[in-house]
Amino acid sequence: MPIEPREVAEHFTERFGQSAGWIVRSPGRVNLIGEHTDYNDGFVLPLAIDRAIWIALRPRDDRRVVVHSINYDQTGEFALEAITDEKAGWIEYLKGTAWSLQESGHELAGWEGVLAGDVPMGAGLAASAALELATARAFAAVNDLDWDAAGMARLAQRAENQWIGVNCGIMDQLIAAAGRAGHALLIDCRSLATRPVPFPVGVAVVVLDTSTRRGLVDSAYNERRRQCESAADFFKVRALRDVGLDLFQQSAAGLDETAQRRALHVITENDRTLQAVEAMHRGEVSALGVLMNKSHESLRDDYEVSSDALNAMVECAQAHDACYGARMTGAGFGGCAVALIDAEAADNFAKQTAAAYKQKTGQTPSVYVCQATDGAEVITV
Ligand code: GLA
Repeated sequence: MPIEPREVAEHFTERFGQSAGWIVRSPGRVNLIGEHTDYNDGFVLPLAIDRAIWIALRPRDDRRVVVHSINYDQTGEFALEAITDEKAGWIEYLKGTAWSLQESGHELAGWEGVLAGDVPMGAGLAASAALELATARAFAAVNDLDWDAAGMARLAQRAENQWIGVNCGIMDQLIAAAGRAGHALLIDCRSLATRPVPFPVGVAVVVLDTSTRRGLVDSAYNERRRQCESAADFFKVRALRDVGLDLFQQSAAGLDETAQRRALHVITENDRTLQAVEAMHRGEVSALGVLMNKSHESLRDDYEVSSDALNAMVECAQAHDACYGARMTGAGFGGCAVALIDAEAADNFAKQTAAAYKQKTGQTPSVYVCQATDGAEVITV
């Protein structure tokens, strides 16, 4: 269910007896193309979406953080001078972010807040990065910190890597921090330079949630990372970003067959992502769609991170006349696909694709047309 920020503010007033000082909003994301390239220092092209996490908050006099989650109907709290990892669910994302900010030298004051979100968890839409950046925004508001999007994204990534223990790249945190309304963001994951790329007129981005979730994503993800790192060592480069198709073709025969396919995905995906940016600039929507379809094939066959449900969803989407292209999005193994659609037919596409997927798999999906929004921000209601 979509969340109204006003309701979060009202809930705050009821619970804490005063109005909130700020409301922060931090979005989920969908990645248009550039999958499993971020931890190879490569290129990604995500957009921040109109599914987000909101926190209404006000400062406290002590150094405690007290937060009520509407979604979980639970209150979590911790003291900033003694943050400990208790593996206590959603509050760990807030603790990890506070820990990371303090580790980087920020002196933090505490706050109390009410939290709510409508980014589905575990669906490949980066709900955890949204929560980390919402927390960073909240601390930035209370402590008057400068909002340096790339710096905050790095701190949030550190929270995810070292507090939560998920060895992710920078894409999710950086798009949550730096998204731009009406645009996708080309991110160079080595330099962290970002370039907003406007959407061509007349296209809609549709998120297709298969309703499947896979628990083993983390171990498979870490295994892919290791395979990429050893392939980079084999080619004697810092990361697979530094390997072009020529070098691959000259010397890949020395790698085992699986490692070759993993590397080939990353090398071709980086290339497709840069081509996608050019296609968007030229308004060549069909070319962009073809690149998305090829990305899916590469993720399915070479990188092997798709799933039966994702493949079924992508096939149903691609079969619709209004679809320019479709692919799985995010880490994979379950969760969401993304499709690029002729905007005029978006509603018909959503209905028909949902029905076709249900008929094929027996699962009931969620399908919605999304808008590209700004990254983490303080909003007024
Ligand atoms: C997850 C990670 C990202 C990225 C994608 C795959 O979303 O958090 O860093 O690696 O998977 O592209």
